[in-house]
Amino acid sequence: MSHIHNFNAGPAVLPAEVIAQIQAELPNYHQCGISILESSHRSKEYEALNQRAMERVKRLLGLGDSHQIGFLQGGASHQFAMLPMNVLQPGRSGAYVLTGVWAEKAYEEAGRIGSAHIAASSKPDNYATLPAPAMWQVAPDAAYVHITSNNTIYGTQWATLPTASQPLVVDMSSDIGSRPIDASNIAMIYAGAQKNLGPAGVTVVAIHNDFLAQMHTNVPTILRYQTHLAAQSLYNTPPVFSVYVLDLVLAWIEALGLDNLAARNAHKAQLVYDVIDQSGGFYRGHSAVDARSQMNVVFRLPDADLEKKFLASASSHGMIGLAGHRIIGGLRASLYNALPVTSAQALAQLMQEFQRTHG
Ligand SMILES: Cc1ncc(COP(=O)(O)O)c(C=O)c1O
Repeated sequence: MSHIHNFNAGPAVLPAEVIAQIQAELPNYHQCGISILESSHRSKEYEALNQRAMERVKRLLGLGDSHQIGFLQGGASHQFAMLPMNVLQPGRSGAYVLTGVWAEKAYEEAGRIGSAHIAASSKPDNYATLPAPAMWQVAPDAAYVHITSNNTIYGTQWATLPTASQPLVVDMSSDIGSRPIDASNIAMIYAGAQKNLGPAGVTVVAIHNDFLAQMHTNVPTILRYQTHLAAQSLYNTPPVFSVYVLDLVLAWIEALGLDNLAARNAHKAQLVYDVIDQSGGFYRGHSAVDARSQMNVVFRLPDADLEKKFLASASSHGMIGLAGHRIIGGLRASLYNALPVTSAQALAQLMQEFQRTHG
C-alpha cells in the first residue's frame, strides 16, 4: 500500500523497511525456529534484544550511565499517574507547565495523588503559544517541573528544551527521537512509542539515577520505577513484540543518522508551513510562528465546508489521517520520523492545487 500517505497522529506510519523486515523474519526470529511472538521474555534472544534496544535509546537521547531505561506498558497516560505516585512525598508538589490537553491530564492526575500546581499555562491563548520559562512560577516545594516537548493536538513544540530550577520531567511522546537533544540534565523522559519510535504497547522511560534514588518505596511493586529500571532482570513480562519493533525502528534511525533525520523532519514541516504562509490567509496555522511544531502541523481552511471538501480530496489522493483532533477540529498533518518526504510534498502540492480551485 505504498500509495497511501499516512498522516495519522498515532499509532502512525512506520518505516517501510521495518515493515518488510518484520514480515521477512516473523516465522523464524534469528534462526530460533520460532517467531518473536512466541519467544520467552527470559530467552537469551529476547534478553539480547531488550538490552540492545535500551542501549539504542540511550544513544538516541545522548545519555550515558547517568540514566536508566525502561520499557513500560499502559501508554504515556500511565506515566501521568506513575510519576506523582513515585515522586510526590508529603510536603512536595509537582509543577506543571500547561501547553495542551495532555499536559492538563498529567496535571490532573498528579492532583489526584498529591499536591500539584500550575507553573505556567498557555491555555488563555488556546495553546497556540508556549509560556516563556522566565515567567514560570515554580513553587519552592516543587519536586519536579513537568513539560510536554511537543503538543500533538495544538501543533506546538519547544524549539530547544527549556531548563528548570527543579528536576525537569519531559513528556516526549510526540517528538522523541526526531532531533538531537541534550538530555543529560533531564531528570526523566517518557514517551509512548507509537508516533516516532514504533508501535503502540510500549512506553519508553529514561530516568536519571539521582531522581530514581529519591523515589519512595511505599508504592505497589508493579507501579514502582525502581522495580522496572533499577533491577537486574525483568520484573514481569514486557510487551515483547512492541519492543522488538521499537528496536528495529531505532536501528533504522541509527542507520539514517539522527542529524539527517532531523534535517529531513525540518524539511517536511517547512514544505507544509510554506504553503500556509504563502496562501494569503486561505490556510491558517493554529500555532504562533515561533512555537510551530515540526511533528504536527495544525491548520484551518476558511470554513468547515471547505475543510470537509479538502479531506475528501486528500482521501481520493491516498492521504489519510488529516482530520484535526476532535478538541480543536480543522486539519492536522502529522509528519513523524517515518513519513517519507514525498508524502509531505504530495500534501503541499494538494494544498496549493486545492486553493487554486476553491480559493
Ligand atoms: C504528548 C502526548 N502525551 C501523552 C499522550 C497519551 O499517550 P497514550 O495514548 O500512550 O497514553 C499523547 C497521545 O497522543 C500525546 O500526544
